[in-house]
Amino acid sequence: MRLFISQTSPRTAKKRQYSPMAILTILSYPDPRLHTVAKPVAVVDDRIRTLAADMIETMYESKGVGLAATQVNVHERVVVMDVSEEHNQPLVMINPELLWKSDERIKGEEGCLSVPGVFDNVERAAQVRIQALDEHGNMQTYEADGLMAVCIQHEMDHLMGKVFVEYLSLLKRTRIRGKLVKAQRELER
Ligand code: NI
Repeated sequence: MRLFISQTSPRTAKKRQYSPMAILTILSYPDPRLHTVAKPVAVVDDRIRTLAADMIETMYESKGVGLAATQVNVHERVVVMDVSEEHNQPLVMINPELLWKSDERIKGEEGCLSVPGVFDNVERAAQVRIQALDEHGNMQTYEADGLMAVCIQHEMDHLMGKVFVEYLSLLKRTRIRGKLVKAQRELER
């Protein structure tokens, strides 16, 4: 997920936490691979830890607050996010499962690293409780509201093959698709 805030990141000045790192290629809407349903991770091993570290690096590089493995064309249930002000508290969520969501809803502006330049309002549950494995394979429970709740729901949607623009009207989605296809063509030229 991406916020419509120009983030001057103090973090980029610091030494990177993970090395060696790789910046992964993020799929752009309307790439059909974004609609793949991710499989659960069987074992949290070094392969998954490397994937998560690379995803965190990629997320920071792209100034995002969340990234799902689906977006880097790995179809396993891995999400990374960092909603902290300083961008120095990355979280890894493996096989996240929704335990509870509030009836209360909130509407907030969302963006997505797979839908560059597009920001629009989406209504979500105001609070959620989830459980997920961390990068060490330990089960963690998260109670979230505000931005983190929105981000969790946005990223878990990705793992189900759903991109946030699918909550928008068909008219808006058609416009977004047209705009991104055109941008992609210009890049390829
Ligand atoms: Ni996204």
